[in-house]
Amino acid sequence: MKILLLGSGGREHALAWKIAQSQKIEKLYIAPGNAGTASVGENVPLKADDFAGIKTFVLANAVDMVVVGPEDPLVKGVYDFFKQDAQLKDIPVIGPSKAGAVLEGSKDFAKGFMQRHGIPTAAYRSFNGTNIEEGIAFLETLQPPYVLKADGLCAGKGVLIVPTLEEAKKEFRGMLDGMFGEASATVVIEEFLSGIECSVFVLTDGKHYKILPEAKDYKRIGEGDTGLNTGGMGSVSPVPFADKEWMKKVEERIVKPTVEGLAAEGIDYKGFIFLGLIKVDRDYAYAKAGDPVVIEYNVRMGDPETETVMLRIKSDLVDLLEGVAAGDLDQRTLEFDPRSAVCVMMVSGGYPQAYQKGFPITGIDAVEGSVVFHAGTALKDGQVVTSGGRVIAVSSYGQTQQEALRKSFTEADKIHFEGKYFRRDIGQDLLK
Ligand code: AMP
Ligand code: GLY
Repeated sequence: MKILLLGSGGREHALAWKIAQSQKIEKLYIAPGNAGTASVGENVPLKADDFAGIKTFVLANAVDMVVVGPEDPLVKGVYDFFKQDAQLKDIPVIGPSKAGAVLEGSKDFAKGFMQRHGIPTAAYRSFNGTNIEEGIAFLETLQPPYVLKADGLCAGKGVLIVPTLEEAKKEFRGMLDGMFGEASATVVIEEFLSGIECSVFVLTDGKHYKILPEAKDYKRIGEGDTGLNTGGMGSVSPVPFADKEWMKKVEERIVKPTVEGLAAEGIDYKGFIFLGLIKVDRDYAYAKAGDPVVIEYNVRMGDPETETVMLRIKSDLVDLLEGVAAGDLDQRTLEFDPRSAVCVMMVSGGYPQAYQKGFPITGIDAVEGSVVFHAGTALKDGQVVTSGGRVIAVSSYGQTQQEALRKSFTEADKIHFEGKYFRRDIGQDLLK
């Protein structure tokens, strides 16, 4: 099987690493990839949303399957592009149709979908330029803090959580006034949920599904979950509070109605679903304390969650992806690795604000027993250099989470680049 994987981050290196281990893989291409993916497959200099270029490449190289890493090509309709093309229509694309990608591309759609299918999520209303005063009145009915979300994609920046009513009103008007451009022409205002978050990943062929290992990510730049939001500073899997009983609730109340709801609405969905969940710590109208509630859907794997989730999948990922394409995912096996897996993300100095790129990275070859996933790296004259905010993920196994973390920290200390930083408290909140 020849596979083309789209994307270029740590998530894609982790997917590529896992795909490359398959018995079934003949050739793996990554477009555009990074310095790390080049070690497990062949990088192709094409942007993930250059559909015409992808078509030419897929036909010229007899690619059998396309796996989509990031949301952008999905929201732009790469699945539909293949389905509607006479030469490409029989080549499976792992990822939802454009109609399915709206689950991530529009918060208003996602909230409406959950309401229609009785899936627990925070109470909400949506507003635009035509009903601003109603939005202000709705804010006055809520308790602080206030949650304001731009409807459209904002590269993870479209959610504001503000402490006072006065600020909430000001930010609300600002968002409708174009704070996030077109993306905030509609704003979702929702109830604040208090609790602890967990990412759950589902692979579906549109009818059957498999729940992949869950993970928790660490979003803030500073230790103790302080400071600015980032793309993610590390992750752990399993998540101790996501025990059998809790995951049963996730499956019955969230996964099943999501997959069935997509089918009932005639939405083509063959790919990953990322459920951003919260275990609430008090009662709400739609959930009791301790229950899972959906914060958001994404239509792809998480980053840096994939850098631990892939370590915990024992089965052949390509076999599972074939099941997605063939519609017989129920006939495929998914076995978990019982060990703990963690990922520690090494980032550029200054990130998530301005940072410099192009610093040489040394010490990767000295790493032993951990898996190094490249996130923002590039090759320059044969030397691996920094090329992004998140630079390298160091992922490790352990019999316990603590053992895996110790391993990642030890190995991360061997890797050097100017300004390097990583959080040394990943996973520590779960030990209490
Ligand atoms: P989202 O882009 O929807 O994932 O939101 C980004 C982050 O904002 C989430 O990961 C949560 O930490 C937080 N968040 C979003 N919605 C809520 C909510 N209703 N209550 C509490 N926190 C939220
Ligand atoms: N780790 C969160 C995300 O990928 O959106």
